[in-house]
Amino acid sequence: MAEIIDGNAVASEIRDDLADAIETLADAGERPTLATVLMGEDPASETYVNMKQRDCEEVGIEGVHVDVDGDAPAADLFDTIEDLNADPEVNGYIVQAPVPDHVDYREVIGRIDPLKDVDGFHPENVGRLVAGDARFRPCTPHGVQKLLEAAGVDTEGADVTIVGRSDIVGKPLANLLIQKADDGNATVTVCHSRTEDLAAKTRAADVVIAAVGVPELIDGSMLSEGTVVIDVGVNRVDADTEKGYELVGDVAFESAKEQASAITPVPGGVGPMTRAMLLYNTVKAASLQTSVDVDLP
Ligand code: GUN
Repeated sequence: MAEIIDGNAVASEIRDDLADAIETLADAGERPTLATVLMGEDPASETYVNMKQRDCEEVGIEGVHVDVDGDAPAADLFDTIEDLNADPEVNGYIVQAPVPDHVDYREVIGRIDPLKDVDGFHPENVGRLVAGDARFRPCTPHGVQKLLEAAGVDTEGADVTIVGRSDIVGKPLANLLIQKADDGNATVTVCHSRTEDLAAKTRAADVVIAAVGVPELIDGSMLSEGTVVIDVGVNRVDADTEKGYELVGDVAFESAKEQASAITPVPGGVGPMTRAMLLYNTVKAASLQTSVDVDLP
């Protein structure tokens, strides 16, 4: 039977450690501040942003939220970004994706001050990450690394198959896991929609990380016995529930857990880790900007 990796428990430990760092900043008269920006009214994005704001409140980070009308011109969002870049009270901020179709997210990211880019998406931060000198690790990939560490999974020399090549998860995670570092040193295969014989790639892996956004794409028949499975997917599928949907991962949990040695659930696996690592990056941003040294988990 697979070990179920409890993302809520690991995230809670990280948040406890961050609370100590936040206290160190408070002793120096500094309070970290995170702003979230949401353009439009995507219901899932609204939920995520609300959760991020609640997290801030719980750990002692000042949370600021800015809504931008979904029909407004891109220039309105860019004005908000300029204001946040110039605001000395704001240590870090994120612009929740997706943005409306008439706005180019790449241009959005390029306008964010790299020192406040707590998502780690700005090209300067991507470049630093690839070069092995990350300033802000993107939150989900960093959360996956912390989950693997907490589950006692050594990535050194491991064959890791990542399914998904997004800028937010697949690409940065692949780059982090190949770094010459204690939480890297893996041999990484990145699969995507044009990959031939996906099952051969997942069966060959010691660790499978699914981040592709296709409900239950990977099932037990595609896994070798003893595989560690990390499911990044959060997919809303129609269901006969109060909300009319349920959340499922990119992995068919019931069949996968029969093959896996350890597996993350959805929800309660990677999701809480992503949120914890955003708090981590906010504390790091505040520390960098104030030159107050803190111990980060
Ligand atoms: N949309 C889905 N994941 C993310 C994320 O990590 N950051 C931002 N800004 N938007 C997202």
